[in-house]
Amino acid sequence: MIVTVTPNPSLDRTYEVPSLERGDVIRATGERVDPGGKGVNVSRAVAAAGRRTVAVLPLGGAPGALVAELLDAQGIEVARVPVAGATRSNIALAEADGVLTKINAPGPELSPAEQELLLETVREQSGDADWIACCGSLPRGLTPSWYADLVARAHAAGARIALDTSGPALLSALRERPDVVKPNAEELAEAVGRNLSTVGDALKAAEELRARGAGAVLASLGADGQLLVDAEGAWFADARVDVVRSNVGAGDASLAGFLIAGGSGPRALASAVAHGAAAVRLPGSVMPTPADLAPAAVTVATEVPTDRELTEPVS
Ligand SMILES: Nc1ncnc2c1ncn2[C@@H]1O[C@H](COP(=O)(O)OP(=O)(O)OP(=O)(O)O)[C@@H](O)[C@H]1O
Ligand SMILES: [Mg+2]
Repeated sequence: MIVTVTPNPSLDRTYEVPSLERGDVIRATGERVDPGGKGVNVSRAVAAAGRRTVAVLPLGGAPGALVAELLDAQGIEVARVPVAGATRSNIALAEADGVLTKINAPGPELSPAEQELLLETVREQSGDADWIACCGSLPRGLTPSWYADLVARAHAAGARIALDTSGPALLSALRERPDVVKPNAEELAEAVGRNLSTVGDALKAAEELRARGAGAVLASLGADGQLLVDAEGAWFADARVDVVRSNVGAGDASLAGFLIAGGSGPRALASAVAHGAAAVRLPGSVMPTPADLAPAAVTVATEVPTDRELTEPVS
């Protein structure tokens, strides 16, 4: 069972529009509403693989009720933490030429009592969990060390933690030794305060996060593939994708793929890359099902290609 935690979930409303003109009234040609948030995406990908998942979510107001209803309709179990503020609604404008413009709302501020209830709900779910995936930014009211508290409590309850966040929330959680962290290239560069131009630069940065407390680092490098560094060694894998339709949520699909495949070692890395590659072949933040995966297209390198230049360097 894989528990996900999304401290700041959303109701995502996407309007299809011919094109965007500032100041005009734009008539949408289509509209869809989805439950949103990085942990929610991980749960959707885990459920798509036929595995059990529970999404822990603070939910409030009418948008929160709709998020729970939509997840329920998709067969995803929700451990709901009722909060006074309304869950945020995010807007995406999808133009006919494929350009996506997003407006993300800040979301409600969680009171100290709500923060505590959220931590306690995660602890309750920890008993049955193989993994707890904690994903995304923190809502207002939570201090950057909130994920550190969560890691400590979930560890005390015997669960393993995968953390996908960035900035101070990531850095301060390292001291509680999360089992896996999943930065993308930008998040990895920010965490170490250096540019990344080669796979070797990413390897050094990942080793530094391990030295600061992470058990394993699964670094997703966009089109360049993924790097896994743990106590046993380092591995690199990638997969060619001919037509990229949308990279939104590809990192979330990757993390789900990694955890579904056991959450350690090169086999889990290959699953992460297969899920990421499948996600970018699908539109929007649609999560892949087993039928969408092309595991044969994944190459796990025998040696990390440290000299390889990143096609998407971070400077
Ligand atoms: N253009 C691409 N071509 C091939 N594979 C890709 C491409 N973009 C992403 N991927 C696959 O998906 C994985 C995750 O992508 P990325 O590193 O962009 O995650 P991310 O920035 O965390 O995404 P998000 O947070 O939106 O889910 C990559 O490591 C790779 O395996
Ligand atoms: Mg990401």
